[in-house]
Amino acid sequence: MPGRRGGAGDGLQGADVVAAAPDRMVVGRRREPLEETAESIEAAGGKALAVTADVARAADIEAAVAAAVEHFGSLDVAVNNAGVFRGGAPLADLTEEDWHTQLGVNVTGVFLALRAEIRQMRTQPSGGAIVNIASTFGAHTRHPGAAAYAATKAAVSVLTRGAALDHIREGIRINAVSPGAVDTPMSLQPGETDADRSARARATLPLGRVTTTEEVAAAVLHLASDDAASTVGTDLVVDSGATA
Ligand SMILES: NC(=O)c1ccc[n+]([C@@H]2O[C@H](COP(=O)([O-])OP(=O)(O)OC[C@H]3O[C@@H](n4cnc5c(N)ncnc54)[C@H](OP(=O)(O)O)[C@@H]3O)[C@@H](O)[C@H]2O)c1
Repeated sequence: MPGRRGGAGDGLQGADVVAAAPDRMVVGRRREPLEETAESIEAAGGKALAVTADVARAADIEAAVAAAVEHFGSLDVAVNNAGVFRGGAPLADLTEEDWHTQLGVNVTGVFLALRAEIRQMRTQPSGGAIVNIASTFGAHTRHPGAAAYAATKAAVSVLTRGAALDHIREGIRINAVSPGAVDTPMSLQPGETDADRSARARATLPLGRVTTTEEVAAAVLHLASDDAASTVGTDLVVDSGATA
């Protein structure tokens, strides 16, 4: 409900989720997965609004925030989850197009979303909470073939800290979650099946398995909730122990 900071998000399914549970707006570029996510929220008893937007375009994300406020009355929680990975090859073999795509979505997209969300939240007596999805590939670890992606995710962690300092006195709490390998297609290596990934995780991760989207969502929910009222500008690692 608007005004309740219960949390937001559907794990890593939607690109960008705004408004607090049980009323949620899901944002992404493709209509079909958004409709599916909205239907699953409604089937679970919540209210949902699906809005198509490209987070790399200021007008799109500003319109999405306006739609959330028009529909739900306020914007209490925002989760900036949209992200893309283009890599796998050494940096010298990365195309400029892939460089700009990652920067556009992962960095500019988070900046534009933060700006639009904060401008709305600072008008609300109760402020708001924002959680950005970074990655252990940013500030916490390194992986071959991921230099550009890692740079964008390090930027998300740093943006989170800076924005948190800038806006906490306005009642807006900003934090990040840095997942390690999560059970979505993004963590599959080229040609790898889910079973291959499970075997790799058993052999290499301290926990013996990858992180689930529900576990990432639980971390987001905690940071978005009033239980985390004193947690400001942090970057919560949820990575099956990979960086322990
Ligand atoms: N999977 C992992 O192992 C892992 C690990 C660490 C961090 N992460 C981060 O977690 C987040 C979610 O990743 P994922 O694994 O769920 O990846 P995913 O399955 O590829 O989902 C990415 C989501 O972002 C949306 N998106 C991409 N570009 C967008 C744009 N320009 N505007 C709006 N929405 C956009 C996609 O929807 P549309 O295509 O419809 O726009 C999709 O919903 C990302 O930020 C990723 O970097 C993932």
